[in-house]
Amino acid sequence: MNATGAKDQHLALVLQQLAMPPGTQSTLWIVDESLPIESLVTIPGAATLTAMTNRYDIHACLQSRGVTALLSDFDFSQLGEFQRIVYRISKEKLVAHHCINQAIRRLSQDGELIAIGGKQDGLKSIAKNAALTYGQKNNTRKIGNSYLATFRKPGILTDEQFLPSNDYGRLRQVQHKGVSFYSKPGVFGWEKVDRGSELLTTVLPTIQRYMKSVNSVLDLGCGWGYLMLATREWDVQTRCATDNNVAAVDAAQKNFAEHGLTVDCVVDDCASNIGGRFDMILCNPPFHQGFAVSDTLIEKFLAAASRLSRRSTRAIFVVNQFVPLEKHADKYFSQCRLLLAEDGFCVYELRP
Ligand SMILES: C[S@@+](CC[C@H](N)C(=O)[O-])C[C@H]1O[C@@H](n2cnc3c(N)ncnc32)[C@H](O)[C@@H]1O
Repeated sequence: MNATGAKDQHLALVLQQLAMPPGTQSTLWIVDESLPIESLVTIPGAATLTAMTNRYDIHACLQSRGVTALLSDFDFSQLGEFQRIVYRISKEKLVAHHCINQAIRRLSQDGELIAIGGKQDGLKSIAKNAALTYGQKNNTRKIGNSYLATFRKPGILTDEQFLPSNDYGRLRQVQHKGVSFYSKPGVFGWEKVDRGSELLTTVLPTIQRYMKSVNSVLDLGCGWGYLMLATREWDVQTRCATDNNVAAVDAAQKNFAEHGLTVDCVVDDCASNIGGRFDMILCNPPFHQGFAVSDTLIEKFLAAASRLSRRSTRAIFVVNQFVPLEKHADKYFSQCRLLLAEDGFCVYELRP
């Protein structure tokens, strides 16, 4: 089965689990980018569901389908108890551990946590460790290509009975390649400077020199803010950084403040609520959505960059070498020039 097929199968299983058995009063759905929910026209039991997500686009999609959706960095502190909690596990293990740790504590007396995932997602070993940690029988079944693990509300848990989640919610100082920054689990490549982004920054001094002036910069899909930080010595009037992930924007905001940079930080889906035009747009677009490779995402980022460009704008993109950026960019930009190809990455300059 290909990635899309498996993805659809996990989604089908999640939807089946959301259709509440008679007598269920409250269901919480934990959703992140690993489920292609935008393809859903209706969601079973939408009116009685509460959903929690860390992604702006998912939050907007859920609300438009009539679900009560909460947008946060998986902050469960304000939530009550639920009889049923459904979670398609996240790609990053620490996020999955955090969500399972929190979810199990929010089950009502007769409540059940249902975790779904594939073999490659580590569901089997996460479920085994969770059962050990909470002192329960490992209750994992295979359904098609998906695994489904169920957990009951445990007895009283001690402070030690947590799956390791590295203090998930806390921003912490990280050092990598001589760069010191704040970040946390759940943010893209949270413990490192991405090699592709690093290569992108090496072309910036030359581009800045030949552009007459750079008065405004947009960091599109900012993560913890590395690309924008590369412009910190420039005399720029307007800076804007945006990401779909709440945790990323929190981290970026902290990093900009640490460097005394004034940056408008926006949680948004591909800058959909951002207006105006920018002189320079910096972007290392995602090419995965959750577990699967997505061409649609690249297109969406190019479309956003094009909408926010004026004639003199330079959009600098870095992508993995196997992403055919020229082919996609053709629709949105008149020129797509390869500036650098190194270590499996390609840096391009796009001109409107
Ligand atoms: C490859 S990472 C690059 C992060 C950062 N610019 C860097 O250089 O480290 C792509 C970023 O795009 C964000 N992203 C994914 N989908 C998005 C969307 N629809 N709108 C805005 N940002 C999105 C991800 O959360 C991630 O932070």
